[in-house]
Amino acid sequence: MIQIQENVPLSQYTTFKIGGKARYFCVIGDAGELRQARAFAEKKNVPIFILGGGSNILVSDEGFPGLVIKNEIKGIFYEKQSDGKTLVTVGAGEDWDTFVADTISHSLGGLENLSGIPGTVGASPVQNIGAYGKEARSTIHSLAAIDQATGKEKVFHHDECVFGYRHSFFKTPEGKKWIITQVCFLLDSNEAISIDYKDLIAYFSGKDTTKLSRQDVRDAVLAVRFAKLPELKSLGTAGSFFKNVTIPKEQYESLKIKWPDVPGFSFSTSDSGLSTIKIPLAWILDNICGFKGYRIGEVGVYKNQALVLINYGKGTASDIASLAECIQKKVYEMTGITIEPEVEYIFPKKP
Ligand code: EPU
Repeated sequence: MIQIQENVPLSQYTTFKIGGKARYFCVIGDAGELRQARAFAEKKNVPIFILGGGSNILVSDEGFPGLVIKNEIKGIFYEKQSDGKTLVTVGAGEDWDTFVADTISHSLGGLENLSGIPGTVGASPVQNIGAYGKEARSTIHSLAAIDQATGKEKVFHHDECVFGYRHSFFKTPEGKKWIITQVCFLLDSNEAISIDYKDLIAYFSGKDTTKLSRQDVRDAVLAVRFAKLPELKSLGTAGSFFKNVTIPKEQYESLKIKWPDVPGFSFSTSDSGLSTIKIPLAWILDNICGFKGYRIGEVGVYKNQALVLINYGKGTASDIASLAECIQKKVYEMTGITIEPEVEYIFPKKP
């Protein structure tokens, strides 16, 4: 039986350590409890927000006027397939990194590069989490979700999730109607180790990499993350605040005239024949706009990674939103590039 609480401060549930109160709040541990919570919200005629690890959201200072459901659906089940691979079915409320560590202890490959990412398993398909050359989409086989409107369950196969860079169907208005309860990953003990990402190459340089275990790769990723990203215990943050940018080759060439060192990676060639270039936005924020280490009052840009915004303790959602707006404007002024937040804003809709 679920317990509904009232006026619960959300700052304690977000890694930004920011957010006003939830009008109603409850914790659910299985699909049955989720249906009870859904029915409660329907009866009260209030919106629902599903909270996982709270690690990629900016909750407004006014809070959330409906029911916040903290998803704690647990369980990790391993099923060996006839082709030797293993299907792992995981409750959406499992902690992501605990799950990654568990797959490595089962000698399975595919997730070690995604070590140390805060949040829950249920959030991993929503924004197709990625780091150090890997994305969740390459291992997600399918997922189960419940329709907020009807309470009916549906299984979404990989292709129906429509994954993109930090994107999926579940980020679209249609997709937001679904509550993810379980995610199935297809993992392989023979999956080759991948240490091609710049920071991992640097970490392993001069070391013998011929006999690396998955645990060695996990340890390397955790060390690199620790050096660049803030410790959640001491600072409030939601990791990268903005998405990296992709621009046409011509625009990249003109940026290079002014800033010859701007890094760029050939991304894809669209149907129209246009080549696009992916640029690390952190480089622009750091080297063109000079934002690295910038602080205004209780919020700022992290000193070791310019894509990361920080709450030093007493920052508010409006402080972060103003800083983000100031960064967006400056990037546009300097480069003509429009940047988008990666973090989801949970703000009441302005009439
Ligand atoms: N750089 C700078 N200044 C900085 C930081 C980076 O110039 O302050 C430049 C460097 O050239 C560096 C490049 O930017 O080589 C890329 O930086 P980094 O490797 O730190 O990666 P990123 O593109 O900034 C992305 C993800 C991170 C993920 C890392 C590692 C996005 C939005 N962010 O950041 O994900 O950990 O790659 O793979 O794609 C997150 O999503 O919250 C997150 C932390």
